[in-house]
Amino acid sequence: MKKDYIFTPGPTPVPLEVGLAQVKMVHHRSPDFGEMLGRVLEGLKYVFQTENEVLMFASSGTGAMEGAVANCFSPGDTVVVFSGGKFGERFAEISRAYRLNVIEIKYEWGETADPALLEKTVEENPDIKGVMLTHSETSTGVVNDVEVFGRIVSETGAVFIVDAISSLGAVEFRTDDWKIDVAVSGSQKALMTPPGIAFAAVSEKAWNMIADSKSPNYYFDFNATRKSQSKNPPQTPYTPAITVIQALEKAIEMIKDEGLDRILERHRRLALASQAAVEALGLNFVAHDRSNAFVTTSIWSPDGINSGDIVKLMRNKFGVFIAGGQGKLKGEIFRLGHVGFFDEFDIVVQVSALEMALSELGYDFKAGSGVSAALRVLSG
Ligand SMILES: Cc1ncc(COP(=O)(O)O)c(C=O)c1O
Repeated sequence: MKKDYIFTPGPTPVPLEVGLAQVKMVHHRSPDFGEMLGRVLEGLKYVFQTENEVLMFASSGTGAMEGAVANCFSPGDTVVVFSGGKFGERFAEISRAYRLNVIEIKYEWGETADPALLEKTVEENPDIKGVMLTHSETSTGVVNDVEVFGRIVSETGAVFIVDAISSLGAVEFRTDDWKIDVAVSGSQKALMTPPGIAFAAVSEKAWNMIADSKSPNYYFDFNATRKSQSKNPPQTPYTPAITVIQALEKAIEMIKDEGLDRILERHRRLALASQAAVEALGLNFVAHDRSNAFVTTSIWSPDGINSGDIVKLMRNKFGVFIAGGQGKLKGEIFRLGHVGFFDEFDIVVQVSALEMALSELGYDFKAGSGVSAALRVLSG
């Protein structure tokens, strides 16, 4: 017998109740669907901590990233993109695809984005139309300080677009208080739902910019989605990912029952236990500042061991799915997940499998030291 454990930063494990909610599909032009969509859109406002309208798309998170760029700007507009990992790079790539003038502020993978660089760039380029920041850079484990960036951008005419794909519901995320104009996210991370739907919470400032945009768009036309969603009950312009929305309704119910504050505390505890295990095993973190790096624990592979071998061994021999490195960190790092439907014992299983794989690959450490360190945090 082999049991599978999904412990990646995303997609994350789906609770049984959430999966079961997908079994009986309703029709999307039925009143039942419209009412459910209305409840889900309201529930998303709680998760995003916003009074802004939350738009929904049948796509993975990248669709909402592209939508944000395509709707807010016009070719030739100048935007600032902070890029310190695979997903910051993606915002720059999308912006170039839409013929924007991209000021890409590259920071070291593992470092945190520096708000002083934004202040300087905004001063030197008063015509900036947008600033893009990745909240939780899943490729490195770094979590950026969105609030301080939001304060700076709000004093300019630019819109602030934040990739909250792995951070929403994982660590504190306050769309309105942090002055975020377009917050994008997806279903398959801390929201404990299968992949297939993406969201964009859009502010009035962004809607004003959208009215002037001359970039081409069709499927991700924010106005078309807004128009359908404003019907009573709400609708979608095209066929929605019906059963994923059904699943999300259940997941939001669970999130509300547990409460965001308690969820964030659970994620923090699980991350601290994972960090303790890593330290006890004598391994090194990719993220330099771990004070809020509670979404993904990214770890350098020991010298002489390709991180892909750790990931493969854990998956093929023990059924434990963790993530390897992306982009230029492929083969160099591996990443443990702990947001969404995770509890203490998931961390214990994950660290146990890691220890077994490391041992098999010849890494020298005291067997059980990682598990013990994690347990000390979890039982504290
Ligand atoms: C921070 C971040 N941005 C963007 C993405 C891309 O999202 P998707 O794969 O849902 O398109 C991911 C996925 O891992 C992510 O973690």
